[in-house]
Amino acid sequence: MKATAIANTNIALIKYWGKRDETLFLPMNSSLSITLDSFFTVTTVEFCKNFDKDVFFLNELQATDKESNKVFIFLNKVRDLAGTNLHARICSENRVPTAAGFASSASGFAALAAAATRALELQLSEKELSMLARQGSGSACRSVYGGFVEWQKGIQIDGKDSFAKQILSEKSWDISILSVLLVAEPKKVSSTEGMKRTVKTSPFYSGWLSTVEKDLEEAKEAISSRDFEKLGIIVEANAMKMHATMLGANPPILYWQKGSIDVIHHIHKLRSEGIYAYFTIDAGPNVKVLCLPKDEKIVYESLLSLTDVQEVIICHPGSGIKYLE
Ligand code: DP6
Repeated sequence: MKATAIANTNIALIKYWGKRDETLFLPMNSSLSITLDSFFTVTTVEFCKNFDKDVFFLNELQATDKESNKVFIFLNKVRDLAGTNLHARICSENRVPTAAGFASSASGFAALAAAATRALELQLSEKELSMLARQGSGSACRSVYGGFVEWQKGIQIDGKDSFAKQILSEKSWDISILSVLLVAEPKKVSSTEGMKRTVKTSPFYSGWLSTVEKDLEEAKEAISSRDFEKLGIIVEANAMKMHATMLGANPPILYWQKGSIDVIHHIHKLRSEGIYAYFTIDAGPNVKVLCLPKDEKIVYESLLSLTDVQEVIICHPGSGIKYLE
């Protein structure tokens, strides 16, 4: 009763920010992402009647209690689905081309959901797998699929209509996503905590909710017509708006560091010189830059020239979950 799955991480173009149900990981708004080819998690799950407890190894080391608890709580949901109480050994590796800064709960919970359900021989559809992965970390529901992926927020209280689906395959439109790793301190507020505080306290959160679904529709139109400039403008503005809601939280949340702002200005300068590059930033200081493959080299080299940039990793749209036999 053992299986191994690989899931790529994803970067949100239209962000998920805020939950309407924290136990079921139900979002306040729908979101849209690109699954990336260069960052992924490989997870092996083995269930055995001889195991007397669950154990979780992350990058070959026994995980901390905090990391393990999240994983074991999630595993209980899988056990409930399968009607078993067997314990498991979980070995997870985050394969990222750099030492730090890009570990991802999206690829982590997508790979865990896939490996655990396969090990227990549960025959889940992709939609069911997406719904399950969502309950480990919201953004994980999008990593089940490759390419351009939409997570429909759903309206039901049981979450049965809150899952992701692919809107365009990774082979249908190649764009470049440059992951910019900055010299920065570890972040102090997790996404989970950041979004909770924002929903509860930010007076700007209602402005986010009243415009995000329109941003999503426009982004989908831009993707379907392969209009890169239109997509870039919406993506950048949507990220700025999400961070603006956090600045209004009490206490305020600021994920950006000096290097993040340098990259923002740099991207604006590139655009004024006629290069179509756009940025997005998640709940942390690092920046992702979108550009067309023809401009990838010039954007890459120019980013490396910035003082606070440690590393730039070039990604392209990647695939959905894969299993290793
Ligand atoms: C800013 O999915 O990490 O990256 O559901 O609490 O685990 P939890 O949060 P998580 O939040 C991701 C937030 C974001 C935007 C996004 O990926 O859509």
